[in-house]
Amino acid sequence: MTYKNFLFLIFLLPQLSLGAKANAKDIILGAVFPMTGPIATYGQESVNGMKLALKKINLKGVRGKKIRLIIEDNKGEPVESANAVRKLISVDDVLAIIGSVASSNTLAGAPIAQSAKVPMLTPASTNEQITKTGKYLSRTCFTDAFQGEVMAKFAYNSLNKRTAAVIVDLSSDYSKGLAQIFRKKFKAMGGTIIDKNFAYNQKDTDFRTLLRKVSRKKPDVIFVPGYYQEVGLILRQARSMGIEMPFIGGDGWHSDSLQQLAGAKGIKNNFYSSHFSPDDTDPAVQDFVKEYVAAYGSKPGAMAALGYDGLMVMADALKRSKSLNREDLQKAIASTKNFKGITGVITLDAQRNARKSAVVLETTPEGNVFREKISP
Ligand code: PHE
Repeated sequence: MTYKNFLFLIFLLPQLSLGAKANAKDIILGAVFPMTGPIATYGQESVNGMKLALKKINLKGVRGKKIRLIIEDNKGEPVESANAVRKLISVDDVLAIIGSVASSNTLAGAPIAQSAKVPMLTPASTNEQITKTGKYLSRTCFTDAFQGEVMAKFAYNSLNKRTAAVIVDLSSDYSKGLAQIFRKKFKAMGGTIIDKNFAYNQKDTDFRTLLRKVSRKKPDVIFVPGYYQEVGLILRQARSMGIEMPFIGGDGWHSDSLQQLAGAKGIKNNFYSSHFSPDDTDPAVQDFVKEYVAAYGSKPGAMAALGYDGLMVMADALKRSKSLNREDLQKAIASTKNFKGITGVITLDAQRNARKSAVVLETTPEGNVFREKISP
């Protein structure tokens, strides 16, 4: 071998060690979602959305390859999420990971992806801490700093409420973080927060003692930044106890199951912030709704649209990336700009969070009613 050839080989070696991934006929991505357990509708909807995106992406392919998704069920549990991320990296050698939904789940897997230098993109986790884990973590949704402010303003300005009680799910980083932001913003506007200590845990089913305590304080409005399973029961039990003031919340309410869990009486006169409304008249949204209904027979919720956008942004980054190695891909994801998604125009800021509009929905027995769209 000549010296020149030897140098060339040395130069080639790092690329060769990536060989399995770079030369495989498919680009393999991992996905960590709650397919079963108390927040299963999030996972099922996300995967529905991602499948629509995948079909479109693979029609043309990316850099001459097809994308293949390996989906892991984290059952909505942090430990399962960490295990899933570890498995996707060490066993499947995925190029990047999409997921998860519940912030506590994403936070459990984030340090593992970060230290292995595997890009992890969450389409839905809104807790502030997630992207602070490190540069390999990004998100294509807004954060709770924005969502909390949207709901504080909605309560104060649109509903004209001046006193609020906050009920927190102590097992959820999402709930604790969003509660804190809401309190701060509502107070800054001139509102009063009644008490700090109203709390429950995920999988609780009887909220009547708690609700009695809250209603005795007679707040104008009750903020519950929880997930649909518990929120649904809270609404049902509150109305059956004669508690009539509006309940408000965040994106965790967004599930078709909320309606059923709350019942016709419970669902009335409540409001929450979310990422997407299928009633948005934007033609891109309406095309997506049509496609989704044709494929699955029901209208898409927020998670379906977020899952779709998350994978589309990933595919766009894969196309723009300098190479198919993880470091270049991370840079390409972080430099996402003006990507026209279903949930809005996606630009990642210096902290790799998306700045996007939110919608406020009213829950009624006939379904969600679109109330406002709020831009950052
Ligand atoms: N934002 C929630 C969280 O971070 C997850 C979620 C997103 C739930 C969108 C429903 C819809 O925990």
